[in-house]
Amino acid sequence: MSKKRLGPTDRVYPMPCPLVVGGTAENADTLAVAWIGIASATPPSIGMALRRTRHTLELIREHREFTVNIPSSDMADVVDFCGITSGRAVDKWAATGLTLEPAAAISTPLIAQCPYNLECRVTHEVEIGEYVFVIGEVIESHAEETVLDSEGAAVDVSLLDPLVYIAGSREYRKLGDKVADAFSVGRTLGEPPA
Ligand SMILES: Cc1cc2nc3c(=O)[nH]c(=O)nc-3n(C[C@H](O)[C@H](O)[C@H](O)COP(=O)(O)O)c2cc1C
Repeated sequence: MSKKRLGPTDRVYPMPCPLVVGGTAENADTLAVAWIGIASATPPSIGMALRRTRHTLELIREHREFTVNIPSSDMADVVDFCGITSGRAVDKWAATGLTLEPAAAISTPLIAQCPYNLECRVTHEVEIGEYVFVIGEVIESHAEETVLDSEGAAVDVSLLDPLVYIAGSREYRKLGDKVADAFSVGRTLGEPPA
């Protein structure tokens, strides 16, 4: 099968699209962040690329902490609003109706309407072109009971129904169907060497 070269790109498919909060209950701001992912499992850490001009980045740099708030797929309108307006010009809380609730271990608050939330403390910053890659250690996490599995121990991703972002076509989607069990289906090709 032939493939076409498309050149250097920043597109990876799909992407999450959480709302990241910086600041405190008094001055918090939030923005949509699709360029975000796990930077380490031990210690659990999240990395994200924020353009230097973001108001929320200023707050994150000032307080050295942030929260990652995973929206459900029915929150596309408020997420998008937070991704096309700056807190320098607009009170995003008043405009969207999103509300804040206290975190457990840091002073930056969580977004109450997002069913899954992570509390992070900044550990590293790497400057790359127009962006700052901010890495934060995950100090605590929270999930609404309604998105937990039947044992109440972990998030059930079908119940969470997280908002997904597609770069390039610039659209929001829902997750699709499960296709196989990870760390397992590969064994149908042979057992890994011990
Ligand atoms: C779907 C979507 C994804 C985005 N992802 C990022 C991102 O990964 N990094 C970034 O710096 N800005 C990203 N943005 C842009 C910011 O969310 C946007 O500039 C926002 O208005 C900044 O708000 P603030 O100035 O109040 O912090 C994204 C916007 C949208 C709509």
